[in-house]
Amino acid sequence: MEKLLINGGKPLKGEVMISGAKNAAVAIIPATLLVNGVCRIENVPDISDVDSIVKMITSLGAKVEREGINTLIIDSTQLKTYVADPELAVKMRASYYLMGALVGRFKNAHVPPPGGCNFGVRPIDQHLKAFKYLNCSVTTDDDFVKIDGSSLSGGNVYFDVVSVGATINAILAAVLAPGRTVLESAAKEPHVVDLANFLNSMGAQIKGAGTDVIKITGVPSLKGGTYSIIPDQIEAGTYMFAAAATRGDVVVKNVIPKHLEAITAKFLEMGLGVDEGDEEVRIYAKGPLTAINIKTMPYPGFPTDLQPQAVIMLATVNGTSIVTEGVWESRFQYVEQLAKMYDKISVDGKRAIIKGGAPLVPAKVTATDLRAGASMVIAALACNGTTEVDGLRHIDRGYEHIVEKFAALGADIQRVDD
Ligand code: EPU
Repeated sequence: MEKLLINGGKPLKGEVMISGAKNAAVAIIPATLLVNGVCRIENVPDISDVDSIVKMITSLGAKVEREGINTLIIDSTQLKTYVADPELAVKMRASYYLMGALVGRFKNAHVPPPGGCNFGVRPIDQHLKAFKYLNCSVTTDDDFVKIDGSSLSGGNVYFDVVSVGATINAILAAVLAPGRTVLESAAKEPHVVDLANFLNSMGAQIKGAGTDVIKITGVPSLKGGTYSIIPDQIEAGTYMFAAAATRGDVVVKNVIPKHLEAITAKFLEMGLGVDEGDEEVRIYAKGPLTAINIKTMPYPGFPTDLQPQAVIMLATVNGTSIVTEGVWESRFQYVEQLAKMYDKISVDGKRAIIKGGAPLVPAKVTATDLRAGASMVIAALACNGTTEVDGLRHIDRGYEHIVEKFAALGADIQRVDD
């Protein structure tokens, strides 16, 4: 089993290039199933979630070639089935995008319930509701969610919960559906906008992505073309928190600073230096930091996917900080693991109370999910002594070349086999 050995306690310094966004890639790759032509997708992150979704569309009959590390050439014109492979689907959450993509393409989809990180209950009722309002009939059995889209057509969908996945699934199902679809209380995350931009560049008619009302006019077909995925907001935020936790000076490059405003606002509140350029943000320590409170919310709020990284960073700041989880039912399980390095974080329902400023202690810790894994890496970078982080399959799902990127910032980090 592989693990990371991190000898921390040194400020990170230098520049880091941010990769393409995982959560955009895992939506855009299945969206190519709707395209009658060849798609060239650039800036695709080299991560295992991308490998998993590529395997899934390949098993449906798509032809996928890699050009270098970060470009995929996808030809889905010869798809042979609308039944997704159950063994592949349980490996990741985004397998549920095959529902929208296959029903849009074949007017029929059989897709197993999705896997992914465990944050307590992760329902898909809003996805299924959207399909029903687009005039599909949905049945579920032990193995599959079965969507019959023989009457698929535009409709009005009012989401009860702001859901990234349900918004994206509804867009996927609606782009080729005859008539007009209106999605109300839609998610506004950058990857929702990126998916809409991708589909529009292939001929779809989607308006309003990035607001809470998205309007789609169905088109008969989409054509192939080239598209480049946006930079990963969460990867960028992770390096920003690592810079802050080590009191370093890091320029995070290839980012869209607008996507990072909820984070930079909190950094300024804490007393960190933040310089924004057109496509980069510099984070640097310039004196003592103050404890703050954070609440995670859907975009443009503070992202839940940076909550664990924020918690460990605040452990390094004198005073009491409170972090409230506003998106997921249960996203603090990792605190138990983190307690091996810092035991002054208590969890009270959806709040973590962090008594910061005591030293972190090196330990052997296990990444329990993707972002929890990132928080453990940050803990290790901020801690004097050698920490071991295992459970790397979680981290590899979403961080491209994490060892090389941190090493280039001066971290003493190695990946070793036990
Ligand atoms: N929800 C429902 N019903 C639904 C769908 C969602 O009640 O049908 C609830 C969820 O339980 C949750 C909230 O709505 O409380 C938001 O869930 P959402 O559907 O937005 O999450 P998701 O689409 O499953 C994506 C990201 C997650 C990220 C969330 C929130 C992907 C593949 N995953 O998940 O990313 O935490 O949005 O921003 O895009 C990660 O990258 O580490 C990750 C977990």
